[in-house]
Amino acid sequence: AVASKGNHRHFMAKEIYEQPEVVGRTIAHYVDFSRCAVRLPELPFSFRDVSRLSISACGTAYYAGLVARYWFERLARLPVEIDVASEFRYREVPLDPGQVALFVSQSGETADTLASLRYAKDQGQHTLAVVNVPTSTMARDSAVVAPTLAGPEIGVASTKAFTCQLSVLLALAIGAGRQRGTLTEADERRLVEVLAAVPSLMTEALRSEGEIETVSREIAKAKDVLYLGRGTSYPLALEGALKLKEISYIHAEGYAAGELKHGPIALIDEAMPVIVIAPHDAVFEKTVSNMQEVAARGGRILLITDRRGAAEAAMDTMSTLVMPDCDPVVAPLVFAVPAQLLAYHTAVFMGKDVDQPRNLAKSVTVE
Ligand code: G6P
Repeated sequence: AVASKGNHRHFMAKEIYEQPEVVGRTIAHYVDFSRCAVRLPELPFSFRDVSRLSISACGTAYYAGLVARYWFERLARLPVEIDVASEFRYREVPLDPGQVALFVSQSGETADTLASLRYAKDQGQHTLAVVNVPTSTMARDSAVVAPTLAGPEIGVASTKAFTCQLSVLLALAIGAGRQRGTLTEADERRLVEVLAAVPSLMTEALRSEGEIETVSREIAKAKDVLYLGRGTSYPLALEGALKLKEISYIHAEGYAAGELKHGPIALIDEAMPVIVIAPHDAVFEKTVSNMQEVAARGGRILLITDRRGAAEAAMDTMSTLVMPDCDPVVAPLVFAVPAQLLAYHTAVFMGKDVDQPRNLAKSVTVE
């Protein structure tokens, strides 16, 4: 069947709008709502016996893996090492047989990720692949496949595949936490309820599109944009910057907000918008103080926060986008939406071909 854009101008917009549905479908695949428990794929190991998880991936899938590191470490107390696949495959990383290597890929065909998977397999590791294409090479080569149910993704810049990857990875981290005894049944029940709320939170996040479109006109004037975040919002800052540079060709950088003082603060002026991703979570106060450092140097801030955060931050910003309040554990899923819409509208306003950005390929099957 030929994919259609429906009522949308671009596949990217259609795919952004599909997220509540495909994320809901993906979550339903990994959750038994009647038992309020996570349903793991059949595993040839127990997370109880795992002492280190290695994750490798490329591009947006790598950023999904970076978010997952926080989840596996926090919820399952499982140490995670993660690297981009192009480094992982050549680093000669020592991998203990019987441990688990996890790979994340929309296409299941990315050359570096596939080579990393084969390397881990050769070292006697259990391989677990989170892939969107069930007939892909990675799905075939991996011992365990955890599918994302995003459906075909046409836009070169990944959107719905990313949030579906996050959904699967969070479910896996919860399941790992149960197996390792770091989460109680009550914890799991609570987390399942939090997961179940995600699609409607994403729908609510989509309602900020009009405001995002307005502020994108400011972003479109910039030559450089800085994205800041802490905790799971740090990988989201990286993903927001990647989306913007991929489709608008504006130079954008994502930084851990705490690293601001170690370099990027030197760049702050009124010409470089600073996009701060700050849900009201455990590190919110810290991010706010970084934001004050930006403001004190004349930086123009676009704050993306939630209702509680907006009430507490009370700062003079260029603009503040207010997302619905949600449990911080799922904030990356909700806050991905404004990050995607901002890149999308900036690029559309600049007249760029958002579905087919120059020099980029949907799937990088050669090195
Ligand atoms: C390319 C695409 C990205 C994608 C990356 C990894 O760079 O343009 O959108 O994130 O490859 O692709 P994969 O299929 O392995 O997720």
